[in-house]
Amino acid sequence: MADFIGAVDQGTTSTRFMVFDHAGQEAGRYQLEHEQIMPRAGWVEHNPVEIWERTRTVIRTVMNRLGISAPDLGALGITNQRETTVVWDRRTGRPLYNAIVWQDTRTDRIAARLEREGKGEIIRHRAGLPPATYFAGGKVQWILENVDGVRELAERGDALFGTTDSWLLWNLTGGTDGGVHITDVTNASRTMLMDLETLDWDDELLSFFGIPRAMLPEIRPSADPRGYGTTRTSGPLGGEVPLTASLGDQQAAMVGQVCFDPGEAKNTYGTGNFLLLNTGTELVRSQAGLLTTVCYRFGDEPVRYALEGSIAVTGSAVQWLRDQLGIIRDAAHSEVLAREVPDNGGVYFVPAFSGLFAPYWRSDARGAIVGLSRFNSRQHIARATLEAICYQSRDVAEAMESDSGVHLEVLKVDGGVTANELCMQMQADILGVPVSRPVVAETTALGAAYGAGLACGFWKNTDELRANWAEDRRWEPQWDDEQRVAGHAGWRKAVQRTLDWVD
Ligand code: G3P
Repeated sequence: MADFIGAVDQGTTSTRFMVFDHAGQEAGRYQLEHEQIMPRAGWVEHNPVEIWERTRTVIRTVMNRLGISAPDLGALGITNQRETTVVWDRRTGRPLYNAIVWQDTRTDRIAARLEREGKGEIIRHRAGLPPATYFAGGKVQWILENVDGVRELAERGDALFGTTDSWLLWNLTGGTDGGVHITDVTNASRTMLMDLETLDWDDELLSFFGIPRAMLPEIRPSADPRGYGTTRTSGPLGGEVPLTASLGDQQAAMVGQVCFDPGEAKNTYGTGNFLLLNTGTELVRSQAGLLTTVCYRFGDEPVRYALEGSIAVTGSAVQWLRDQLGIIRDAAHSEVLAREVPDNGGVYFVPAFSGLFAPYWRSDARGAIVGLSRFNSRQHIARATLEAICYQSRDVAEAMESDSGVHLEVLKVDGGVTANELCMQMQADILGVPVSRPVVAETTALGAAYGAGLACGFWKNTDELRANWAEDRRWEPQWDDEQRVAGHAGWRKAVQRTLDWVD
C-alpha cells in the first residue's frame, strides 16, 4: 500500500501541493503565487494557464524533494478557491478568457437585475445563495455576453465552464487528449445554478443566466471511490494516480478540522474569512444573511449541508497595508506594529473593497477608515485592520447563532492569519469565546487529502481522521463585557458609514 496521499490546494493567491502520511502529518509542501490581474477598479482576474503551470511545478518540486514517485501516492485530492470561473475551448484546451475571480464585482448589474426581476427569491430558495457578484453564474453570463464567439461555442458544447477544480482535473487527466469535465457538489453549490435538493443543474436557474447546459461539468461526490480519472503519465506526477476527491477550499477545511457532526464549526482566515457550521443532512435556509451550501458528500452517503458566513476581505486587507499603503513590510509586521499601541485609538477600518458579503450582501458598500484624529498613527491602522478581521467574524458568528440556535462554545480556526497571535487573542476578546488552533493548520489541503484517502481506503472512516486532530494553542477571552460591547458598537457605526457609498 502507498505511504502517502497528495493534495493540490489551488487558492486565490497561490497554488500549493502537499503530501500527507497516514497520521495526517505533513511530509512535504511547496507553493507558488500567481499574478493578480486587476485591469479596472473592481475587476480581478487570474491567468488559468499560469495556474496550471504553477500546479505542475509545485507537484514536481515536492515529489523531487521527497524522492517519491507516483506509486507512493495512494490518491490525489484537489481543493480550490471557489466561484472563480474559467471558460475554455474543449478542442484546444485554451482558456477563452482570463479566470474571473470570486472577488470581482463586474457582475453587479447582473445581480441587481435578478433582484429587480423578482428572481432573487427563487435563487435563494433553490441554490441557497443571494444574487451577488461573488458566485459563478453571473461570471459565466458575463463571459457569454462579452467575449466574442463564446456563446456559439458554448451552445455546441465546445466552450466548457468550470471552477478551478474542473480546470485542474481536465488538465491533470489529459486536457484535450481525453480530459474529464467534472466538478464536485461543493463547488457546484457556489454557482447559483445547482438545486441544493436534487444536487443537479437546474434548468430554470440556467435560464436566468442564459447558460447552455452543454458547457457545464458533471457534478460528482466530493470524495468518490469510483474516482474522477487518473493523472496521466506525461503529467507532473509522471505516472497514474487516481483522482478521488475534490472540495471547495472552505469545505475541505471543514473536513480537515474534522467537523463531521452537526453543530461543529470552523473559521478559516485567508484572503477572506469563511465561517462554516455543519448542519448535517438538514438544509437550513438562512434568515440572517448566511449562505446555505453543501458541506461535502462522501460517495453514496447522504449529502451534508452547511451554513456559511463568507467575508470577502480579511487577510487581503493586511496585504493592502503592505502593497498599497506601504505601512508594513510583510504580514507579520502588522502584528509588531499593532502591539506598539494598547488599543485601536478610536480607529475602525471596514475593508469593504468588494462590497460587503455576509451578513450584509451589499455590493454597493465601499471601504472606510473612520474615527481618525491627529493622534492616530499607522500603529492604530494596523490594529484596526486586525480588529476588522475579528469584528467581521463576530458579525457572521452572531448570524449563525440566530439561524441555527447553536451557541459556539469554542471557535476552531485555521489558515494563514492564525499565525498572528495578537489577532487570535483579539478574536477571543471580540467574540467572547475561546479560539482553538490545531497542530496541522493547513486544514484545507489536509481536508482534500482526507477526502481522497477515504475514497481509496487509505483511511477507513472518519473516526480514524478524528483521532488525528490535536489542538496546538487556545486563546481565552480577556476583555470584560463592557469592553466587548463598546468595541462592537464602534464597529457597527463604522460599518454603517460604508453602506450606500455607490450611487
Ligand atoms: O469563496 C472563496 C474562497 O474559496 C477563497 O478562499 O483561501 O483562496 O482565499 P482562499
